[in-house]
Amino acid sequence: MWLNRDVISVLDFSKEELLDLFNKAKQIESIRENSFSNLKGKVLATAFFEPSTRTRLSFQAAMLRLGGTTLDLGEPTVSSLAKGENISDTVRMLDYYSDVIVIRHKLEGVSRYAAEICEHPVINAGEGTKEHPTQTMIDLYEVWKTFKSLENLTYAIVGDIKHARTISSLILSFSIFKPKKVYLISPLELRAKEKIKSFMESNGILYEELTTLSEVLEEADVFYITRIQKERFSDPYEYEKVKGSYVITLEHTKKMKEGAIILHPLPRVDELSPKVDSTKNAAYFSQARGGLYLRMALLRAILTGD
Ligand code: CP
Repeated sequence: MWLNRDVISVLDFSKEELLDLFNKAKQIESIRENSFSNLKGKVLATAFFEPSTRTRLSFQAAMLRLGGTTLDLGEPTVSSLAKGENISDTVRMLDYYSDVIVIRHKLEGVSRYAAEICEHPVINAGEGTKEHPTQTMIDLYEVWKTFKSLENLTYAIVGDIKHARTISSLILSFSIFKPKKVYLISPLELRAKEKIKSFMESNGILYEELTTLSEVLEEADVFYITRIQKERFSDPYEYEKVKGSYVITLEHTKKMKEGAIILHPLPRVDELSPKVDSTKNAAYFSQARGGLYLRMALLRAILTGD
């Protein structure tokens, strides 16, 4: 089921496969050991053409904790990309040197293309504004652990809905695990793209677009907060108009219903007050920590089939 699978879109996986993955991750997490030898002799290559802390390092940490080793393409200035080598040839070299390749790129389609030319599995570690499938797996894993189910929950998704690939991917996953309702809360300028709305409509996902958070504070089970993505704006003035649109504070958490959780794919800028970190609603650090176990489970599954 898992052996040699590419991970390009969350839609490449069935409900049963995702639940299987979450159970594998939970098993690793529950052992609370930091080293395994399942992937001894295996090599993971990371090629990040956009900045990253969590995805790059947690994939590397996952491989190391499973007994494997890692190599990293590094900044474009230190590889032969600086001499004009194209991405196809670069990726082919990574394929020769490693057993699995993790790629982040600003262009949509790069990871799918890499998967076509590589013999080894390719994992999409975030692509432009389109998808970030392993982040969605992590998000769902945290929700699944909290609510023991992924169906019939109400989500309030807040922030840069237009640009955040974590949101696009999460919305795609709602066709697999049907929510009760999805509130999309953003400035008018950052509303969901038409194709995302069409996707929700054609998959029977009930959603409502709002510009303020107050009316859903007592209703949502999951608050999914994202930063406004400054790097996606071609006009700095347009960013200035929407920056700081939403800031989740302690006051907001006091109005949330019992058991509601706050997720954030991170990094955060100013949209989530650090004072929220110590509330029982704050699940974003647990979510990030779970990313290590989820990626350990994923690597072990696609490299050994277990
Ligand atoms: N959530 C996430 O993708 O974080 P990084 O950009 O730090 O990898």
